[in-house]
Order: sequence, then C-alpha cells, then structure tokens
Amino acid sequence: MRALVYHGPGQKGWDEAPDPTIQDDTDAIVRVDAVTICGTDLHILKGDVPAVTDGRILGHEAVGTVTQVGPGVKNVRAGDRVLVSCITACGRCRYCREGHYGQCVGGGGWILGHRINGTQAEYVRVPFADNSTYLVPAGVSDEQVLMLADILPTAYEVGVLNGTVQPADTVAIVGAGPIGLAAILSAKLLSPSHIVAIDLAPSRLEAAKQFGADIVVNSRDDDPVAVLRDVTGGLGADVAIEAVGIPETFELCARLVRPGGHVANIGVHGKAATLHLEDLWIKNITITTGLVDTYSTPKLLQLVAARSIDSARFVTHRFGLNDMIEAYDVFGRAAETGALKVVLSR
Ligand SMILES: NC(=O)c1ccc[n+]([C@@H]2O[C@H](COP(=O)([O-])OP(=O)(O)OC[C@H]3O[C@@H](n4cnc5c(N)ncnc54)[C@H](O)[C@@H]3O)[C@@H](O)[C@H]2O)c1
Ligand SMILES: [Zn+2]
Ligand SMILES: [Zn+2]
Repeated sequence: MRALVYHGPGQKGWDEAPDPTIQDDTDAIVRVDAVTICGTDLHILKGDVPAVTDGRILGHEAVGTVTQVGPGVKNVRAGDRVLVSCITACGRCRYCREGHYGQCVGGGGWILGHRINGTQAEYVRVPFADNSTYLVPAGVSDEQVLMLADILPTAYEVGVLNGTVQPADTVAIVGAGPIGLAAILSAKLLSPSHIVAIDLAPSRLEAAKQFGADIVVNSRDDDPVAVLRDVTGGLGADVAIEAVGIPETFELCARLVRPGGHVANIGVHGKAATLHLEDLWIKNITITTGLVDTYSTPKLLQLVAARSIDSARFVTHRFGLNDMIEAYDVFGRAAETGALKVVLSR
C-alpha cells in the first residue's frame, strides 16, 4: 500500500509500505476512505515530537471501512463504516475506567501516527478496535464525521466543558485556527451571550465570524482586554479558551478572565509560560489543561447526525489520497492558502 512516511525532521515521502496485519486479538484493519492532516503532524515534521521515529506512518484521524477484525473484537465487523479516533483506549486501565482515555496506560492514548503507524495510508491497524472506533450513523458524510476524529472533541472537552461554559456566559477564544473555530461551534451548544474571537490573521478572524463569533478582535490592532471589559461591564470573560499554544496567548487568557472565571488551555506548549500569581491569587480563577479524551465523541456524532453541528464547514480543500504531498503543502501554508482542514479521499 501507499502511506505518508516520516523520515526524520523535514523529511517525508508518499512511499510503498507493507499492508498492516492483525497483531492482537483486539485489532481491526480499516481501509481508509477519508483522512485529514492535523497541525500536530506539522509539529512532528519539524522534529518537535521525538517519540515519532524514522519510518513511522503519520496521521491520527480517519473514516474508513473495516476489512478484518481479530477474534476478540465484538462491536465492529468487516464492512462496517467507522470513525477512527485520534485516541485509542484499552478500556481496562484505571484511566479508561474513568473515561480519561487520553491518559490510557494499557497501551492506548494518542498512539496512532505517534507510537505506532497511523491513518495517512491506504490501510491502518487500529488496536483495541471495540473502544477506539465508532460506527458512522447513516446519512452523514465521511467529511462530516472526520472532523470528530480530533478537532471537535478536543475543542468541546478541553475548551468548552473544562472551561464550564454556561448559558449567557461571555467566552473569549484566543486563536481561531481549526481548534479555536471548533471551540466557537461547540460553545454555541451552551448558549453563551457573547463569543469573542481573538487572532492576528484577518483570514482567521473572518472565518471566526462565519463560524458564529459575535465579536472578533485583531490583537495586533486592538486590546482584547479592553474589548472584554466593555462587553462585560468591566468584569472580564467568564471563560477564556487558549487555542494557540504560546506563552503570550496563555498569559493573555489569564488577563482576560473575570474573578471567579475559568481559563481552559487547549494549546500544546513548547515553552514555559508565566503564571502571574501576584495578580491571580486574589481572583478565584480556575485553570485547566488537557489532552482530549474523546468521551464526547458519541454525543458529537448524534449532534452531527441531527444537523445541530455543521462539521463539514471546516473543509476548505479536497484531494485524492495519492495527492498527499500536495495536501501537506497546501495545509502547511495555511496563511496563504486559507486552509482550515484538508480532506483526502480514496
Ligand atoms: N490539547 C489537545 O488535546 C490538543 C489537540 C489538538 C490540538 N491542540 C493544539 O491546539 C492549538 C491550536 O490548534 P490549531 O490546529 O487550531 O492551530 P493553528 O496553528 O491552525 O491555529 C492557531 C491560530 O492562532 C493564531 N495566533 C498565533 N499567534 C497568536 C497570537 N499571538 N495571538 C492571537 N492569535 C495567534 C494563528 O493566527 C492561528 O489562526 C495548537 O497548539 C495545537 O497543537 C491541542
Ligand atoms: Zn490532531
Ligand atoms: Zn486504558
């Protein structure tokens, strides 16, 4: 089969690779029908994720058709159309028993395209298939479901639910990439009174408006802290969601939030950020961090099937599976190409 293979920092190829085979009783083999590229894959290609070594097939998001299952798999069988989630769950360890699948210590967690071969290929082996795939409901497209492999559960769980967004809240979302935009869509499920999106890129702020932000702020031109004060009668945001992953934006969130409010960090940080306890100790704020667990995936699938979330609107570019290198190029130059999510279909 063909697959996107990582060959060390800056090096990748759409190479010939062996077809995956069943290794454990709980494995399934899935033929990839639609796959996408994540910002995290770009981090990997820069060499930022050392657990990914030469020869690894990348990708942790896919929709496909089961071709084969091990004897221990009960929930899915050959021919089933499934979502392959970015998080794999053993289902047995302490974290899985508590629904914290992202922290699985029984061989799961984020492993696809990280510790084992991933989804950017014609076929993928999915361990613990019963707990790590989701049957696709009838009437929804591959593209709609594909956005539930990573970005929507991440934004909803780590941003909106960890931030405890409530009806009538004012929610500040810093960063309007796919994750920030998914936070806008999923925050709207809880009826906030205002969503304020903050970014530096005009194209991303335009997208934020289309996704339902009430106010957009270019923090190069305007002071987001002043905007949030104006909207909230001087208090600040009830919830500030960090969706960039740099010290500056985390520290901005801590300044945007009102006393008693929540800062929900989603961004993956590579550098230390400063926690200004000299200002915050008196403000009763709650700060949360997290890797997505994907416990919300069944609920999000229902919402997509019921047309309550329009998940396909993230898709800006479409390619054939064999155009993987070109798709990486377009996604990697998002500022110029306007790419949000690219979808490659067989
Ligand atoms: N916690 C998790 O489980 C999880 C899962 C997936 C992704 N992530 C992380 O979420 C973050 C966002 O992902 P994405 O795919 O949307 O990334 P992205 O790079 O596409 O978007 C980031 C946005 O932030 C904006 N930005 C950059 N600097 C800024 C600044 N100083 N002020 C305001 N805006 C600024 C950019 O213009 C861009 O629109 C990343 O750090 C990613 O690694 C976390
Ligand atoms: Zn991802
Ligand atoms: Zn587990």
